[in-house]
Amino acid sequence: MVRSVILGLRYLLSCLNLTLILSLTGVVSATIHPQEEMRVFTQLPATLQEVDVIIAGGGTAACVIASRISDADPQLSILVVEQGGNNLDDPTIVHPLLFLSYLAPTSNATLFHQATAEEQLGGRELVVPSGGVLGGGSSINLMMYSRAQRTDFDNWATNGWSADDMIPYLKKLETYSGPGSETTHGFNGPEQISGGTYRANRSTDQFIEAAAKVGYPEIADLQGLDFNNGVQRAQRFISPEGKRQDAAHTYLHPRLQDGKHPNLNVLVETQVLRVIFDGKKACGIEIRPNPAKQTNITGASKQTIKAKKMVIVSAGALGTPLILERSGVGPTPETLFESQPTATFQSVLASPSVPHNDPPHKD
Ligand SMILES: *[C@@H]1O[C@H](CO)[C@@H](O)[C@H](O)[C@H]1NC(C)=O
Ligand SMILES: *[C@@H]1O[C@H](CO)[C@@H](O)[C@H](O)[C@H]1NC(C)=O
Ligand SMILES: *[C@@H]1O[C@H](CO)[C@@H](O)[C@H](O)[C@H]1NC(C)=O
Repeated sequence: MVRSVILGLRYLLSCLNLTLILSLTGVVSATIHPQEEMRVFTQLPATLQEVDVIIAGGGTAACVIASRISDADPQLSILVVEQGGNNLDDPTIVHPLLFLSYLAPTSNATLFHQATAEEQLGGRELVVPSGGVLGGGSSINLMMYSRAQRTDFDNWATNGWSADDMIPYLKKLETYSGPGSETTHGFNGPEQISGGTYRANRSTDQFIEAAAKVGYPEIADLQGLDFNNGVQRAQRFISPEGKRQDAAHTYLHPRLQDGKHPNLNVLVETQVLRVIFDGKKACGIEIRPNPAKQTNITGASKQTIKAKKMVIVSAGALGTPLILERSGVGPTPETLFESQPTATFQSVLASPSVPHNDPPHKD
């Protein structure tokens, strides 16, 4: 609880810092990436109607998974399907300061979900934003470097997911330049972690001083898994040069551009309607151009893509359950029809692990 209050204050403080970056932000000129242009599509090319691996969703985890699979075997043909647009060099994404634009209802990179009324919130219906663009939440979030506590992982009490099991992966993803120990931080990963290019030292110092007076000391590295109840000069998912470290710019785009991953492909502005099954084996997906993005397309335009080896659904905590339920995979066959009683679903698999009508988490 104390920690989340402090995190909230840290967000605020960071916004203050970021406003000041405005004057330091230059104008970006668009760079041409010929390799990437050959690999990112808005229409499904005939050559990609059958691939080895389909990844439904192009968010944070999907960018990482696609990249790691492609590294492991560059021969595998991989297709990432994202409903939102490409974020490559989009100045509002690359430049940390401009993140506030994603809170605007008109944002073309945010999906706003209307939650159901919550008794505990006086009946209010919260609006829950999520990433609606390549890179997902990592393209539109506040970029605060914030990691779970050791006890958060350990409390899962799940084999292979303890804090000690997770540390090698936490290290693998980052190139950390903040204060702290080598036992919990990594120095060779794709995500640059730094304080960013500007700090409002005066307000930061005053905040830290005030926090100390009410019993929250300054802790050099609050993200070392074993520290809590204190404040820190925030580190961020921002490179020392001042660029957002979203998973598309750190994992996916470099591989689309390096000529070494010729079979990694991305289809943007395209919705995944459902996973297609052969018995109980996923063998493809059904897609359509996202009508909110590709307004020039009319009429029936559903298409199918076959997966020779695997379909991975990685469409976020709010997107994945919907795709699964539309595909006939839900907690029970009955739940499939609750929200869309007239739809024609065929129950493929009853799986209690598919969340159904779960209230989204609120920080
Ligand atoms: C959002 O719209 C702006 C302005 O039209 C455009 O430059 C940008 O590429 C769009 N971004 C995405 C992710 O679609
Ligand atoms: C803030 O303090 C740090 C550490 O002393 C220093 O490196 C940095 O230049 C200061 N930033 C500003 C904007 O004064
Ligand atoms: C529709 O518009 C998109 C840009 O939003 C473009 O990439 C695509 O080629 C267009 N499709 C057709 C069939 O004209």
